[in-house]
Amino acid sequence: MNTKPDFSKHANQASTAPAFLSVWDMHSYYGESYIVQGVSFNVHEGEILALLGRNGAGKTSTLRSIARLGDPEVKHGEIWLDHKPLHKMASHEAAASGLGLVPEDRRIIPGLTVEENLQLAQIAPPVGWSLERLYELFPRLGERRKQEGVTLSGGEQQMLAIARALARDLKVLLLDEPYEGLAPVIVDEIEKTLMHIKQQGMTTIIVEQNAVRALELADRAVILDTGSIVFDGTATEVLENEELRAEYLAI
Ligand SMILES: Nc1ncnc2c1ncn2[C@@H]1O[C@H](COP(=O)(O)OP(=O)(O)O)[C@@H](O)[C@H]1O
Ligand SMILES: [Mg+2]
Repeated sequence: MNTKPDFSKHANQASTAPAFLSVWDMHSYYGESYIVQGVSFNVHEGEILALLGRNGAGKTSTLRSIARLGDPEVKHGEIWLDHKPLHKMASHEAAASGLGLVPEDRRIIPGLTVEENLQLAQIAPPVGWSLERLYELFPRLGERRKQEGVTLSGGEQQMLAIARALARDLKVLLLDEPYEGLAPVIVDEIEKTLMHIKQQGMTTIIVEQNAVRALELADRAVILDTGSIVFDGTATEVLENEELRAEYLAI
């Protein structure tokens, strides 16, 4: 007998506001491996969505699918951003349409200073936040603008990776485990900055193993389990639902 609780009944489909980012019945594969198994969810403009689930649930694959990286390959489904069909675009077109993925490994470019890492992101139009505005948001980066990016601390590298995404004209910020390996005091700092970015109107999807920290920040949460959505609702609902947290988040 399957005694797994059915949390899908909590699905929050009541909102009538048009979604800013809409993922509909997305199925993705790494070669023959079927990973993202029919994922649908909406993100509204200016919202922070926490995309949660255990290790291997398919969170990174979902972000990579939305960013059109090609690996995994999206074989079915639609992804709409601000009325534009991302599912018909290559990754560079998706990026130009305002999608920015900050990967788990941050990918700071060796041999370049902090400032050069940011300037490189501004080579291709449309250009987003100015250096001045980015340094205001991340004073640590301003102080270290002439320092080689890869010599920064882990937290500062994460800040640089986020700043680099904002240096392009961004509509949706996709963050893959931004708090990984960082001290709580640095997590606090990045959390404050993400809140500040939200207040400026940014739409964000945050994937985090540290689910409690992500839920504190997020308006809504989607929980994945083996490539399917098992919960879609408010962050508060997840924090208040012990059974759900124990089953899918181990918290
Ligand atoms: N490049 C890949 N090739 C084949 N399978 C992969 C690849 N990357 C991830 N997977 C598999 O896809 C599943 C989901 O992985 P992932 O999206 O990284 O999960 P999460 O980010 O939630 O930990 C896992 O079973 C993982 O082993
Ligand atoms: Mg992952």
